[in-house]
Amino acid sequence: MTVSDQFARYPSLRDKPVLITGGASGIGAAIVEEFALQGAKVAFLDVASGPAQELIRSLDGRVEHEPLFVQCDVTDIGALRSATDAAQARLGAVRVLVNNAANDDRHDFELVTPEYWDGRMNVNLRHHFFTIQALSPGMSSAGGGSVINMSSIAWMIPSTGIPAYVTAKAAIVGLTRAMAHELGPSNIRVNCVLPGAVLTERQRRLWWTPEYEAEIMNRQALKRSLFADDVARMVLFLAADDSWAITNQSFIVDGGWV
Ligand SMILES: NC(=O)c1ccc[n+]([C@@H]2O[C@H](COP(=O)([O-])OP(=O)(O)OC[C@H]3O[C@@H](n4cnc5c(N)ncnc54)[C@H](O)[C@@H]3O)[C@@H](O)[C@H]2O)c1
Repeated sequence: MTVSDQFARYPSLRDKPVLITGGASGIGAAIVEEFALQGAKVAFLDVASGPAQELIRSLDGRVEHEPLFVQCDVTDIGALRSATDAAQARLGAVRVLVNNAANDDRHDFELVTPEYWDGRMNVNLRHHFFTIQALSPGMSSAGGGSVINMSSIAWMIPSTGIPAYVTAKAAIVGLTRAMAHELGPSNIRVNCVLPGAVLTERQRRLWWTPEYEAEIMNRQALKRSLFADDVARMVLFLAADDSWAITNQSFIVDGGWV
């Protein structure tokens, strides 16, 4: 599903500079698309150039502002800082930041080395902090903003075979709460979203077996697959002025997983 007449439109997002990490595919691509269809000025960072160009092409003629793609590996903090600078030079001060880039490669805990552990933290956690650090001064000078960090229900439910990812996703909740209080006086809100099992292209390709699908339907209260747009619409709400009193919070989008 994409933005249609049956879903909300947010006047406060029109022409708003928005930056999304990991926006070339999966949930990030849906977030890019949904913001662009709301009339926002979107910049997105990703390592994957091909899917990014494809996404931009798919929006051609459908959006007022063509999204700006800046190729960047978010684990390289120097490159990340240059990319956020480049985005702000084109869009103006970013008012909405969506920290979404991640990598959920599975790993056997007995084989994890210190280097692998650090790598998981770098791709799943560290860049959240450094994008906030880079963009919050501009947000503050412009009158405030909204930061949305992507966590996961993975740390709330029994998850095996992926402990470093799960640890990073739990830490994102702590980071969210810490930064909500650091930045609240600057009128910057910080919240996080915890998706459940969302059927993206990567999930379908790598992990979506008939057994996993059966488990999802068993666990979820809602007996249907969840899609990237289901998560993106929560992100839109948290970015828009409609949620201006909401900060320091976590929002679960999982179809009622138990
Ligand atoms: N899909 C799910 O079921 C699910 C569930 C819970 C949480 N989440 C969270 O939602 C977010 C999006 O997940 P997704 O399923 O769309 O992931 P995905 O793997 O499909 O997409 C992630 C995007 O981030 C990019 N990326 C990865 N490493 C990068 C790097 N070093 N630098 C720049 N870009 C990089 C990828 O190229 C890709 O475009 C993640 O934070 C993930 O943890 C997803």
